Amino acid sequence: MKRFRPLSPRSWFRSDSAGVPTAPTRADAAIQMYHCSKSYLAGSFALRDVSLEFGRGEFAFLTGPSGAGKTTLLELLFGAEHPSEGQIVVLGRNISRLGTAAVPRLRRRIGVVFQDFKLLPRLTVEENVALALDVLGTPRREARAKVFATLKQLGLQHRRYHHPLSLSGGEQQRVAIARALVNEPEILLADEPTGNLDADLTLEIMDLVVSTALRGTTVLVATHALSLVDRYAKRAVRLEAGRVTEDHRPVGGAA
Ligand SMILES: Nc1ncnc2c1ncn2[C@@H]1O[C@H](COP(=O)(O)OP(=O)(O)OP(=O)(O)O)[C@@H](O)[C@H]1O
Ligand SMILES: [Mg+2]
Repeated sequence: MKRFRPLSPRSWFRSDSAGVPTAPTRADAAIQMYHCSKSYLAGSFALRDVSLEFGRGEFAFLTGPSGAGKTTLLELLFGAEHPSEGQIVVLGRNISRLGTAAVPRLRRRIGVVFQDFKLLPRLTVEENVALALDVLGTPRREARAKVFATLKQLGLQHRRYHHPLSLSGGEQQRVAIARALVNEPEILLADEPTGNLDADLTLEIMDLVVSTALRGTTVLVATHALSLVDRYAKRAVRLEAGRVTEDHRPVGGAA
C-alpha cells in the first residue's frame, strides 16, 4: 500500500516537466517570485526571501542603493542566474523547471537592457538591433523596417551604420534600448536605462519606456534616480541588502 505523504509547503508549487506551474496563478500576472533568495558566496545573500508579483502591462521601478540586488533580481527573471531558493514564474512558466530549449524561447519574449549595454562591437548599430529579430526568423524586409522605426523612435537612425564603440555612452545606451524593444517584448527589464543620458534625453527615453507598458508590456526599470521615481508616480519596489523594504504603489492603484 502506498504510504500517505503530506505535501510540504513548497511541493504544492511543483511544476510539471514542461515547466508549467501546477499552482494556482493570478491570471494576469506576468512575473511571480516566491520566497526567492540568491547567494553567490556561502553565507552572503544578494537577494533574500523576495516575493513579488507584477501584472501584465504593469510598470514598476526597482530602487535601492548600489549592491542592493536590483541587477540580481532582473537576472533571475530572464534565467541568467538561478535562485538559490524559491520559485519564479515568468509568463506562466516556472523558469527553474524549463528545459534547455525552452529557456531561449522564453527569453525571446523578454527584452533586456543591460546595465553595461552588452552591444556586439563588430556589428553595426542596425545589426545589433536586428539580431533580436533574426532569432525570431522575421523576414528581412520586415526586420529592416522594424529596426529603422525603432532606431528612429530613439533618435538614432543617422547612426545605424556606425559601430557601437564609435558612439557616445548615451547613444550606446539608446541602442541597447532599441534592441530590447524591437521585437515588442511581453516583458521589458531595463537596468539603469538612463544612467548615461542627460536630463532631457532621460525624460524622452523614460516616456518611451513608460508608453511600452501602456501598450501591454510589463516593464521593470532598475534605477538609482529617485527623481525619476517621483516624477512618474509609478509602483516602486525598494531593495536594501537583498530584501524588499518597500513596495510603494501610486494612489489609486494605477500601474
Ligand atoms: N556574479 C556575482 N558574483 C558574486 N557576487 C555578486 C555577483 N553579482 C552580484 N554580486 C553581489 O550581489 C550583491 C547585489 O549585487 P547587484 O549587482 O544585484 O546590486 P545592484 O543593486 O544592481 O547594484 P548597482 O546599483 O551598483 O548596480 C552585491 O553584494 C554584489 O557584490
Ligand atoms: Mg545593478
